[in-house]
Amino acid sequence: MCAVRTQVGIVGAGPAGLMLALMLERAGVESVVIECRSREHVEQRVRAGLLEQNTVELMHELGVGERMAREGLVHEGIYLRRPGATERVDITGLTGRRITIYGQQELLKDLIAARLERGGEIRFGVTGTRLHDYDGERPRISFEQDGQSAELQCDVIAGCDGFHGVCRASVPAGALTEHEYVYPFAWLGILAQAAPTTDELIYGWHDRGFALYSMRSPTISRLYLQVPSDERIEDWSDERIWAELQARLASDGWRVGEGPVIDRGVTPMRSFVCEPLRHGRLFLLGDAAHIVPPTGAKGLNLAVNDARLLSAALGAWYSSGEEAGLAGYSTAALRRVWQVQDFSNYMTNLLHDLGGGPFQRRLQLARLEHLSRSRAAATSLAENYAGLPAAPDF
Ligand code: PHB
Repeated sequence: MCAVRTQVGIVGAGPAGLMLALMLERAGVESVVIECRSREHVEQRVRAGLLEQNTVELMHELGVGERMAREGLVHEGIYLRRPGATERVDITGLTGRRITIYGQQELLKDLIAARLERGGEIRFGVTGTRLHDYDGERPRISFEQDGQSAELQCDVIAGCDGFHGVCRASVPAGALTEHEYVYPFAWLGILAQAAPTTDELIYGWHDRGFALYSMRSPTISRLYLQVPSDERIEDWSDERIWAELQARLASDGWRVGEGPVIDRGVTPMRSFVCEPLRHGRLFLLGDAAHIVPPTGAKGLNLAVNDARLLSAALGAWYSSGEEAGLAGYSTAALRRVWQVQDFSNYMTNLLHDLGGGPFQRRLQLARLEHLSRSRAAATSLAENYAGLPAAPDF
């Protein structure tokens, strides 16, 4: 067996794990990242694509923002569309903040390249990951790589391995409280080789259900449709997908730009939070700890915020023995998690057919109308969408 000693053992090479590794390195703290998927898989998987200004600023601080600055699309507003009316929410005018469209897999490529260039370790394709002794002061992570047993001996374990990962699952039953809400619908998402015919994202309310027009680049569109949770992707031909998008996003004399579909999938919609985000020397970050429905585009940004808070706490602990940051990590991270849960739930409930019938649908239209007439209502949406400013305890 090959045993390696490091300070922080990081399970999962997604946004939380890799941002944490880079921030720890900046603070002079050593870490090793292990990941069960291959590097190719991590770098190709189509996921989120909207970065808050907080995330963009952190990327620049870490010296990994150069390609994002070149290729990312900076947006200053979003459109809220309902049949017969499109209202723009002027995010930047209302908050002074911007958002950036940059695919998660592009961000991951940049983080992985920087981590390896700087001499940091990422072990891809590990299997059989198990956590040990995180109740005490010498936690260990065992796994296999290339048929060999290996072990990471560390001071702290950072669980960044997603909702279905082993980290949260290895905490003894009863030690964590889990809050969950599963929405009775899903998103069918496509990536298409088609130039977007909109300059900013369009969130569409429609009798037939919600639709979202997003993008990845000047030639790639990303679009979503609300569908029943048990929807089978095989039942959706390209023709049916485009017809439904055209119907739900319709506006006079305008069409969604169509083109070859290059990726497709159905994503369930769930809200989930586990509390606290710590068990002994195991800390949970990102999707391992919480899931938000995608309507507010917050999942990636929340994961990055967890990493920011934990790296600051670990930096203080290693440099001066200060425990307060580590003791307060869960409370600080959860403060934002619950704010963002509420916002994501608000956006979801504002725009989807929730199954409550015509009265509920008319209330949604009244809310949309209110957003277009009330600067206060629009500002509240805008500041949440742009991302509330980062703070040491938030
Ligand atoms: C996306 O581009 O994937 C995206 C954008 C905004 C959302 C959700 C997803 O609210």
